[in-house]
Amino acid sequence: MSNIGSYEKRRENFSWDIAKEVLGWKEGEILNIGAMCSDRICAQGKGDKKALIWQGFGGRQKTYTFNDLRVLSNGYAGFLQNLGVDPGDKVCLFMDKIPELYISFLGVLKMGAVAQPLFSAFGDESLEVRLFSADTRVIFTTRKHVKKVRKIQDRLPALEKIVVVEGNPDKLKEGEIFFRVEEFPVEDFNVYESGPETPSVLHYTSGTTGQPKGAQHAHASVWGQALTSSWVLDLKDDDVYWCTADPGWVTGTSYGIIGPWSLGVTQCVLDSGFTSAAWYRFIQDNKVTVWYSAPTAIRSLMRDGEELVKQYDLSSLRHLASVGEPLNAEAVIWSEKVYGLPFLDTFWQTETGSMMITNFPGMKIKPGSMGKPFPGIVAGILDLKTHEPVTEPGTVGLIAFRPGWPSMFREYVKKPEIYRSKFVGAADDAQPAELRVDESLWYVSGDRASFDKDGYYWFVGRDDDVINTGGHLVGPFEIESALVEHEAIAEAAAIGKPDEVNMEVVKVFITLNPGYEPSDDLELNIMNFIRKRLSPLAMPQEIEYSKKLPKTRSGKILRRYLKALEWGEEVGDLSTLEDD
Ligand code: PRX
Repeated sequence: MSNIGSYEKRRENFSWDIAKEVLGWKEGEILNIGAMCSDRICAQGKGDKKALIWQGFGGRQKTYTFNDLRVLSNGYAGFLQNLGVDPGDKVCLFMDKIPELYISFLGVLKMGAVAQPLFSAFGDESLEVRLFSADTRVIFTTRKHVKKVRKIQDRLPALEKIVVVEGNPDKLKEGEIFFRVEEFPVEDFNVYESGPETPSVLHYTSGTTGQPKGAQHAHASVWGQALTSSWVLDLKDDDVYWCTADPGWVTGTSYGIIGPWSLGVTQCVLDSGFTSAAWYRFIQDNKVTVWYSAPTAIRSLMRDGEELVKQYDLSSLRHLASVGEPLNAEAVIWSEKVYGLPFLDTFWQTETGSMMITNFPGMKIKPGSMGKPFPGIVAGILDLKTHEPVTEPGTVGLIAFRPGWPSMFREYVKKPEIYRSKFVGAADDAQPAELRVDESLWYVSGDRASFDKDGYYWFVGRDDDVINTGGHLVGPFEIESALVEHEAIAEAAAIGKPDEVNMEVVKVFITLNPGYEPSDDLELNIMNFIRKRLSPLAMPQEIEYSKKLPKTRSGKILRRYLKALEWGEEVGDLSTLEDD
């Protein structure tokens, strides 16, 4: 029997109070994600239960119980307090998927600070932009990654402490602190008296223009994350759960830390490079039962074929789900054939904090559809021009949600106008706190879709120029900015081009300054130049030289024109195209 039971009944009788009941939380109590995921589970008598089974390169394994999570996260929390960190301060977590990342995340929250996890493959510039924007006060990193922090620390006035939490303490620079939490477990820690609206996790996400935006979440998010983990991922007490995402991205925190641990579920983490064989072996060895992954990974597994699957015992698997990009019908059908289970698609965003439109266990799946809105979520499709909700099935419009769900982002750090612009009908002087509870508004996701006569949603594409490569959003502006810093480049436009595995990869069009000619040497030089500025995901796979880039009359580069040509699609309305 699935946790959700009947989707229709849950929708009819829905209240977020159900989530509070599931978590045993009562009005007026402290609500703290760090404590909820460790102290509370121990208080339920599950202190000795495995919380984390971690495997690194070369098969190295470590296991932590919920009691380990409790005392070690207390250790980080106490350490931060002694350091003088105040509630509300941002603490960045910049490391690989090592146990220290997962446990310090809880510790940061326990003492009331904001956890800002960043992807360890970020180069120093990607890191700098995000630390600068957030006024981050402390960074937790490792011996392996500290070099990148050193390079930028002089340009980060708010950054007071660099703490190395793993690796060899030798050769640290003056002022850098080494802290190995195992040496300082703390039995009792007074958890910060956070409430539902206390800021918790900060994730950066890319848009079409400008620098990445910091989407700030609050502790109430755990209600959404726990209930979706229960009803969509169907997590039960005896499950062994594997979320393949990195906590540098929202999936890796909402469903790779908070959701499962708030329910006291054992989860495993594999911190080594991807190969299909390694993944299957990991599932087999750990007897993974519930697996949450992404279409790019699924397509890679498909490419490696069915024969490989047969070499492993994957019979422990009972439930699979996917997020991040459109999950094509072929992938759903293939997984049903080779694993005996379909991947269930789930749609959500950094900003939504938890799943919004999903397929549920027990519900009829229409392969290729994202499913239906989670109970308690009011979804709609808005007309592209009028922004009125459409009523006719099959009409393509903007995916939108009525504000007020618990895990919704509370602001974009220091960008109130951009936050406001995400809500249809918002007054110019409306404050973020009003916007996110005003049920007469729509939060507009930036994606296009339609629903069918049975209420299933079908993804169409993004409504902006953001590139989705392997489930990771990349803003064209970031790439273009890095390119035009190169002395040879006059102008640049970045678009997504079709790719079999990653759905899209980055392609750039550039015009050269006088005196420069296209050549292999120049291309290599440009690539080396931008590699230092961009994360590996944002690196272009192709450079095309142009004499001129298509622009609107007001001078904005028309990326959608370039994209339509690349994808062989209708070019659409070009009335704003600049004259030749
Ligand atoms: O364009 C949609 C796509 O990923 C975007 C959100 O990306 P991000 O904020 O990085 O969060 C990713 C993980 C939650 C969306 O606006 N996207 C996400 N899930 C799906 C999807 N596109 C199609 N189908 C999905 N299931």
